[in-house]
Amino acid sequence: MRTQVGIVGAGPAGLLLSHLLHLRGVESVIVENRSRDYIEQRVRAGVLEQGTVDLLVESGAGERLKREALVRDGIELRFGGRRHVLNLKELSGGRAYTIYAQQEIVKDLIGVRLAAGGQMHFEATDVGVHGLDTTAPRIRFRTDGGQVELQCDFIAGCDGFHGISRPSIPAGALTVFERVYPFGWLGILVDAATPEQETVYAWHERGFGFFNRRSPTLTRHFLQVAPDEDIANWPDERIWRELRVRLATDDGWQPVEGPVLSRNITEMRSFVVEPMRYGRLYLAGDAAHIVPPTGAKGLNLAVADVRVLAPALAGYYASGRTDLLDAYSDTCLKRVWRVEHFSWWMTSMLHRFPDDDVFQRRLQRSQLDYIVSSRAAATTLAENYVGLPWTTAAA
Ligand code: APR
Repeated sequence: MRTQVGIVGAGPAGLLLSHLLHLRGVESVIVENRSRDYIEQRVRAGVLEQGTVDLLVESGAGERLKREALVRDGIELRFGGRRHVLNLKELSGGRAYTIYAQQEIVKDLIGVRLAAGGQMHFEATDVGVHGLDTTAPRIRFRTDGGQVELQCDFIAGCDGFHGISRPSIPAGALTVFERVYPFGWLGILVDAATPEQETVYAWHERGFGFFNRRSPTLTRHFLQVAPDEDIANWPDERIWRELRVRLATDDGWQPVEGPVLSRNITEMRSFVVEPMRYGRLYLAGDAAHIVPPTGAKGLNLAVADVRVLAPALAGYYASGRTDLLDAYSDTCLKRVWRVEHFSWWMTSMLHRFPDDDVFQRRLQRSQLDYIVSSRAAATTLAENYVGLPWTTAAA
């Protein structure tokens, strides 16, 4: 079997790359180790930057998104019993953010790929990448029909943080930058809609709390917990009680309770590898970098990578040029590090750290007071949250 670009992983990065390549006349094949049903149901991110929305819509994959997504102008910072709404759209010169779940994007992209005759192999096992430093790299995998060797000109490693692409690069070829946070997020998806329009971020002595409406009928809540917390220790009643405490307002806010549809604990990590390329393997999305979810950036950064990679690969096929491919890693890493900083900053400002002393808590509180009272400070948060324009962040 042969293709131009072999893509490992059918997450947002792999699927969108395949779609963007198709629009530029470049052929690709996706190899995914999970079932189609599994990846279409998996609850992950859900906050989209303006640029992410624009790219999905312009590329023809945003029809349902345009109809169903919730467009939001602001976020709320909640602390000291008060609600502080920041109008990000106004602060950022008209850019909003959009709530549309990652699994819906995955469904939409699979739909457009299938409509265009795109080749995707789901439930592939023993996936491996080979010959990365040659001009004939290969993806080997097993399907129901037996062992397959897919010969490629290039391979895109879009298989997430736990995939096989990055670990297939020889030791010493990559530099890893990493920070693991001493807490995790307990997340629940609830079958009930909150009346609040804004995504709410709460700073509290007992730790961070969060909620936003995920769809017209669903709400997502998060609570900071210990990194090794056992989810069995958190029956529904304890979660609701803790949300009531951490998100309490002087005017008596109460969560809108409903059936809990799913629950999970996410670890919090910042992680970057440099460069995002080895030979003919290009890493994109979570395979190359992770951010803690506080800034809502993981999915957007995956999209930003493939927005650079697709034209770089297409340029090679159109005219043999390799300068865009050579610049891929540096181009992406400028935006990656901006987003790494923003995500770390939001995380540091809003969480309770185990070794925090009173001094540290006062600093956090001062920073929050500054953001909600200074237009300059609020603008910094706003322009990063809605997403810096592609040009200024070099992507
Ligand atoms: N072989 C084939 N596919 C694999 C393998 C493997 N060995 N390992 C993982 N995969 C698949 C996963 O099942 C998943 O469908 O690769 C895909 C990677 O997708 P994501 O983890 O969603 O990563 P990415 O496309 O980079 O999107 C980034 O993920 O941070 C989360 O929610 C965050 O929104 C962000 C998004």
